[in-house]
Amino acid sequence: MTTPPPRLVFVKTFGCQMNTYDTGKMLALLAHDGFQATDDWRAAELVIVNTCSVREKPQRKVRSFLGPILHRKRDKGRPMVAIAGCVAQHDGAMLFRQLPDVDLVFGPDGVPRVRALVEAATRRRVLDTQFLEVADYPFVQELAPPGPHRITALVTIQKGCDNHCTYCIVPSTRGPAVDRPMAEVLAEVKGLAQRGVRDITLIGQNVNAYGIHAPRHPGFPDLLRAVHAIPEVLRLRFTTSHPRDLGDESVRCWADLPRLASHLHLPVQAGSDRVLRRMGRQYTRAHYLSRVENLRRARPDIAITTDFIVGFPGETRQDFQQTISLLQELRLDASFSFKYSPRPDTAAARLHALEPVDPADASARLTELQAIQARIQFEQNQARVGRVLEVLPERPSRNDPSHLMGRSSCFRAVNFPGDDSMIGHMVRVRITQAHPHSLRGELAD
Ligand code: SAH
Ligand code: SF4
Ligand code: F3S
Repeated sequence: MTTPPPRLVFVKTFGCQMNTYDTGKMLALLAHDGFQATDDWRAAELVIVNTCSVREKPQRKVRSFLGPILHRKRDKGRPMVAIAGCVAQHDGAMLFRQLPDVDLVFGPDGVPRVRALVEAATRRRVLDTQFLEVADYPFVQELAPPGPHRITALVTIQKGCDNHCTYCIVPSTRGPAVDRPMAEVLAEVKGLAQRGVRDITLIGQNVNAYGIHAPRHPGFPDLLRAVHAIPEVLRLRFTTSHPRDLGDESVRCWADLPRLASHLHLPVQAGSDRVLRRMGRQYTRAHYLSRVENLRRARPDIAITTDFIVGFPGETRQDFQQTISLLQELRLDASFSFKYSPRPDTAAARLHALEPVDPADASARLTELQAIQARIQFEQNQARVGRVLEVLPERPSRNDPSHLMGRSSCFRAVNFPGDDSMIGHMVRVRITQAHPHSLRGELAD
């Protein structure tokens, strides 16, 4: 008997780690029906576009990406086309109406049911954007197939978000927060470790709120300690943290847990209390500063990265100046910065209608902020020249196959001469050269 040829699925992933993770889970589930991933959509029987709606730009990309695929679909009657993720959740009914060649539209809560949804879509068009009942949310247990960086993996610890940051669409695309049971998280980490994964990033929209509403439930620091106790995990990170919920117990983990990376992504969004209040962030500039101070006391070499939004409705030049001064005062290691993008049905979109920031001003502020960040980042990199850093090699370097690329504990990309046998083993690298976005070095021992 011959085995049937694999069915090919192509998945395009936009957006954050949640979507990357969901894509892996969908591939793991679809493998039960004989599907294998391909990176050529023309060869695929099924195309899934996993979408992001956090800003207008990623959202716009979805339609341009779908253009040629839907064109082919009209010509040849295949592939089956599915729109998944956050745009599907938010605009599902509209997409379904406007794009008659799309077979299947489902939101993030449809991921655990992807096999049944695809099966049903072979018979009729399917639109599925219901939120699942919170109490029995079925986190997918199957391990995602190994990605290109086979020693790194994401592991979800919660879905959804209970915050109401006024600019943000995520709570309405991912629903309320649900914690994944600790035993499931540990089982997934152990399974990945058995496959050779050494670098684990726990993910959620507000990981520090893990267990916060259930007094007998383990809290985030308990979870962190339990994952850290798995000996194969050489490096542990998590994202994203909300500054309001990053408590002293979590901060203490950097003093106690040596394999917890010297890095935290702690989005501040803005340096002005007035803007923070209007964003609904529920902390002040002073609170953020004190968090950073505590973190640096617990782990002096900790790298702190952040997100900024500029041009939030009503942001004045003085407000923006506060963001610049916060960055300069803290000398944060890196940041993602975005121009405010009004999102449908959010409180800030209504503010934006009343007090928009001139788009030219917003662009100028973004450029100014990014130039200052770039300078600080380069100086921080230069300060590491001559130092020895612990690096976990991930893969051959793109530019030179005789070199490896790995991450330092402080999340810098480090390139150094080395061979494949070192991948997944911690090495010590003496830094010889700093670039704006990476470091170069040589083995220290
Ligand atoms: N849960 C995470 C991240 C969510 S989205 C957190 O709370 O930090 C990732 C980043 O996108 C946010 O930190 C914010 O900086 C940015 N963002 C979200 N909504 C936005 C909007 N409407 N306009 C511009 N940037 C936005
Ligand atoms: Fe959005 Fe705020 Fe939740 Fe982050 S914490 S996902 S910014 S609502
Ligand atoms: Fe985008 Fe949804 Fe993530 S809107 S940022 S993919 S949670």
